[in-house]
Amino acid sequence: MFYKSIRFKMTIAYMAILALTLSIFSAVLFHYVGRSLHENMDTLLRSKAEGIVHAIGTYWEAERLGPNRYGARIDESQGSINFATIAQRWVQEKSKDPKLLDIIVQIYDPNGTVVASSKNTQGIASISEESFMTVLDGKSLFSTLSPSFPTTKVIKFRIFVTPAIQNNQVEYVVQVASPLTSIQTTLDTLRLAIVILFPVTVLLTGIMGTLLATMTLRPVNTIISTIHTITAENMKLKLKLPGTRDEIDRLADTFNDMLARLDYAFTSQRRLFEDLSHDLKTPLTILKGEFEVVLKKMRSQEEYETILKSSLEEVNKIIHLADNLLMLASIEARKIIQERREIDLNLLVQGTVNRVKKLAEAKNVELSLVQNAGMTIKGDEQQLKQLFVNLLDNAIKYTGSGGRVTITIGRTSGSASVTITDNGIGMSKDQADHIFDRFYRIDKSRTEQGFGLGLSIVKSVIDSHSGAIKVDSAPSRGTTFTVLLPIL
Ligand SMILES: Nc1ncnc2c1ncn2[C@@H]1O[C@H](COP(=O)(O)OP(=O)(O)OP(=O)(O)O)[C@@H](O)[C@H]1O
Ligand SMILES: [Mg+2]
Repeated sequence: MFYKSIRFKMTIAYMAILALTLSIFSAVLFHYVGRSLHENMDTLLRSKAEGIVHAIGTYWEAERLGPNRYGARIDESQGSINFATIAQRWVQEKSKDPKLLDIIVQIYDPNGTVVASSKNTQGIASISEESFMTVLDGKSLFSTLSPSFPTTKVIKFRIFVTPAIQNNQVEYVVQVASPLTSIQTTLDTLRLAIVILFPVTVLLTGIMGTLLATMTLRPVNTIISTIHTITAENMKLKLKLPGTRDEIDRLADTFNDMLARLDYAFTSQRRLFEDLSHDLKTPLTILKGEFEVVLKKMRSQEEYETILKSSLEEVNKIIHLADNLLMLASIEARKIIQERREIDLNLLVQGTVNRVKKLAEAKNVELSLVQNAGMTIKGDEQQLKQLFVNLLDNAIKYTGSGGRVTITIGRTSGSASVTITDNGIGMSKDQADHIFDRFYRIDKSRTEQGFGLGLSIVKSVIDSHSGAIKVDSAPSRGTTFTVLLPIL
């Protein structure tokens, strides 16, 4: 599996990139070093040849003017002979000059005859006729030659041929040559260094890359093994943060956040099941008790009626619970409403107030509605009706006899607002934080019937309409719910 790991892939990528870079670098380096060495050699040969022409010229001049130092007679008609003697003398004299030690010199007269040459000519072939003609035309020539020696090693020579011109006439031709051994040795050494260093560098990078990748990815392995031990039951298990504030740290942090959210979701799911079972069990147990009582002996007509009425109440509670759950599920399933219709908010709220009027009268609670003209919103009429019914139902339910509930329709910064204020039992801040949770009911209100689903439905409707809800309450003083909905 190692070859599938990021570590392996990263290392191979490192090595490949380095090998490619090194190859290009080596090729360019080799090319430029070679070129520069050859150029230097050419410059050297040219300057040597020019030096020789200059030196012979000086000798010649000295001989013409001064005493017969080099044994050449001044005889203009036999100039070439004299010149040959001078050239030979000069070459003999300079053959031990360390500056010319590595340089082979041959001097030709215009007929192509070698008139003087250093000792170490080592079989440098004489100039081809074609080249000689070019030189006689006044041009200089460079060439590279590999003469075959009885040794196995091939030595190349760089040769420069140049004419010595006087009075527009080629007097003689100078050929200088130098073996390219030192350049070859330098380039061979460079090549060897590259050949040895290349794999060593690539290998070292591979090893370092693996180590680096291992070090970098170690926290990921820890994360993987921790995740393996996480199940739905132990979601509280948190990943240890490396604390490096890098991507891996952020990954672990994000994962912990996700775990917390999942844990919350799982816990609420579990609680939902527990609450649902409890809320179903209570009316069913009452029903069962009533049926058992009925079946024990024959009862009178009135007794049957009483028990059946009470049973019907319990059945209605179960139906109410099922209805609320179904509604919640359907709102959640269609979180974003497809069918939105324009709704007159005044009419809608008026309708719901009428629906709960009887309930309020039964509890002797006064209902008053303050409307605001021209409030049109877009949404699902059924859902919005349910929203206000649930809020009004609560306001009436949790307000004592003789209380007052005021509904005010208004406008706040581009939103329609509906406030429902009661002067009922109210609630504390802590309790207010939970009232929108499913099945949540405040203990003190348990005397009132309900399953704690009314406000969960309210919240879902608000969310699906991109609205907002706010609760403002104080125990024994009353509660105000403010619903905000986007206005058209
Ligand atoms: N106007 C209010 N005044 C005081 N307490 C309230 C008010 N509205 C809601 N509550 C508290 O919030 C809890 C949750 O309300 P919710 O409407 O979700 O459930 P319920 O009314 O108990 O039952 P259901 O609405 O399912 O019949 C209630 O049990 C009650 O304690
Ligand atoms: Mg309610």
